[in-house]
Amino acid sequence: MAKILVTAALPYANGPLHLGHLASTYLPSDIFSRYHRLKGNDIVFVCASDEHGTPIQINAEKAGIKPEEFVKKFHEEHSEDFNAMGVSFDMFYHTHSHENQKMSDHFFECANKAGVIFKKKVLLTYCENCKRYLPDRYVKGECPACGASDQYGDVCEACGKTHAGNELKNPKCAICGKTPVKKEDEHYFFKLSLYEKRLKEYLETNKNLQKSVKNYVSGWLKGGLKDWDITRNGPYFGFKIPGEEDKYYYVWLDAPIGYVSSTVKWAEGANRNWEDFWKSKDSRIVHFIGKDIIYFHYLFWPALLMAAGFELPSAIPTRGYLTVESEKMSKSRGTFILLKDYLARFSSDYLRYYLTTSTPNSTVDVNFSWNEFQSKCNSDLSDAFGNFVHRTLAFISARYGGVVPKPSVLDDADIEFQKKIDSLPENVAKQMEAIEIKRALEEIMAFTHACNKYFNEACPWKTIQEKKEKCDTTLYICARAIGVLSVVLEPFIPNTTKTLQGFLGSKGAAWDDAVSIVSAGQKISEPTPLFKKIEDSEISEKGDSVKKDIVEPKTEDEGDPFTRMALRTGKIISAVEHPNADKLYVLGVDFGGEKRAIVAGIKGAYKIEELLDKKAVFLTNIKPTKIRGIESQGMVLVADDGKQLSLLFSGAEPGDVVSAEGVSQNPVDVFLFEDFQKNTMSATKDNGVNVLGASLVCAGKKVYVENVSCGAKIR
Ligand code: MSP
Ligand code: ZN
Repeated sequence: MAKILVTAALPYANGPLHLGHLASTYLPSDIFSRYHRLKGNDIVFVCASDEHGTPIQINAEKAGIKPEEFVKKFHEEHSEDFNAMGVSFDMFYHTHSHENQKMSDHFFECANKAGVIFKKKVLLTYCENCKRYLPDRYVKGECPACGASDQYGDVCEACGKTHAGNELKNPKCAICGKTPVKKEDEHYFFKLSLYEKRLKEYLETNKNLQKSVKNYVSGWLKGGLKDWDITRNGPYFGFKIPGEEDKYYYVWLDAPIGYVSSTVKWAEGANRNWEDFWKSKDSRIVHFIGKDIIYFHYLFWPALLMAAGFELPSAIPTRGYLTVESEKMSKSRGTFILLKDYLARFSSDYLRYYLTTSTPNSTVDVNFSWNEFQSKCNSDLSDAFGNFVHRTLAFISARYGGVVPKPSVLDDADIEFQKKIDSLPENVAKQMEAIEIKRALEEIMAFTHACNKYFNEACPWKTIQEKKEKCDTTLYICARAIGVLSVVLEPFIPNTTKTLQGFLGSKGAAWDDAVSIVSAGQKISEPTPLFKKIEDSEISEKGDSVKKDIVEPKTEDEGDPFTRMALRTGKIISAVEHPNADKLYVLGVDFGGEKRAIVAGIKGAYKIEELLDKKAVFLTNIKPTKIRGIESQGMVLVADDGKQLSLLFSGAEPGDVVSAEGVSQNPVDVFLFEDFQKNTMSATKDNGVNVLGASLVCAGKKVYVENVSCGAKIR
């Protein structure tokens, strides 16, 4: 029996799951695993929460709880979402587990023995303001490889290449925005360069790896691989490096090892041997991932496996990013769709169906559109598949007392269609073996169209009167088709097929027995519709899945100009009319020791005496410009609803940084007015200001507006 280990990339226990996670990673891996279970293969499907690293450490600190508690909450939430979506892990474990610590130490020791671990003095980025080293995502700057701006210290999202935090150009602390200093320290490195040849060979000889990804990775290999810093300094949530006081394994060292330790945990409970899956030549290891983590899975991980004497991945199905309504998911636009929010509205199988039909076996990005979701589900699931099932089973119930009739002589059309039925499982299997999951489903859907065509052309509603045996044959064959569908669709829409198998009086069957699930004389029960049509009114309110309490918006909102702005509280200490313009004031603004002249177009809204001593929000990194002969060294923010203007009032002290709860900012040195015009801030109904789903605050106090209506734009 074929042994297969399937893994899905471990979700960070640092935020809720959204449709993107499902589309690229959890859904294809689940469908693939369910298929192999039905094939009777010795398959294990494992995953775990990825619980270590700086973001989790810092977010737990912010929340005032232990990282252990922090990750527990997300582990539980993720488990619920996975269950509700029908993601059928055999084990969903933790990376912060003793099994994983033991396994990580084992890998480290093996690598050490193999002579690929060495110590080196490094210059680290250190923020003197925050009093901490700034690893990975806590420093931002320009990518040393491609020059893209606004990149994190571990991996560039523009070119996909990894780098060290101290290699970024123009670095800035992602927590406070200050320029960090360099500090010397000694770190452990993994000598990745030693594996260049073997990695190249692996890529060249493994026929299951996607060509386009291989080409991409080969490009990196050609440029030569840098040795990999696997150390992080405390405070860090992770495993201590043996023999060290305040040094930890980098999260990306112990995360993929989590695939192994989850298998260990599963094997313990199942009374099996985990090594049969990881150290045996007749086992296939298949890692499902999204395209942002290619480097780790195609280079670091195989090298680690080589160092520890494990088998290498047989396939690494890598899929693209999900866009919603053709744009990057964004909270401000209401296109950041969480699984929870989806599940509150529609059943899991609709989404499983729609995402599978739109996700090819490649790294191209995948689009989710509510309209397409509706039309696909309605026309394919409801009109084609659901309708065929219903008309057949309802006919058998009404005309044959719910008993599948015996066939008589088969004509050409019957024979032709029987062939289609009998070959369907194998045709679908071919696609599944090649991890062509979308194509497998397309094969099945084409078959449902053939089913309806067969039914229509056989006209059983006529032959029941004129040629009863003909009608018997038609209904027998249609019932067989439904039997096959109830099995081959199970990996894709398992809830629906469960209902369907219930109608057939079946408990499901192995893939290879699908064609014999239904036989003459079998009792079926009266069907109810498998699908409810999705009404226009159910999808018209698109914006309602906006999410507010995301802990760390990862990459989704980098496009929003807000993250690059420096906003501060300033106290207006003087205001005079602009000598050359009738609508402008020149304000003197105190930012806690620093005074600036700022030209402001608020003469129509405020009298001079109404402005003095007021504290408001100013944009302080906007490019200084001369306005009618006077240089403005900043910009006042106002809310404008078309009728009224309001300053953004602040109860904090001059100079205090204005931010949005939970949104990390990385102000640029010079912010352009064109970018400001793209800002998405707006007034809320309780007179606050909202950006990216979060409230604008300063020193813990909400920024507020007066006399403008909800939705007023900030300009
Ligand atoms: N913790 C790492 C993986 C460690 S594996 C040893 C991680 N976690 S994640 O929560 O950010 O992502 C989980 C999976 O979802 C990854 O496969 C990732 O590529 C994928 N995606 C995350 N955001 C996505 C989209 N917007 N669209 C499609 N896939 C996305 O990465
Ligand atoms: Zn800092």
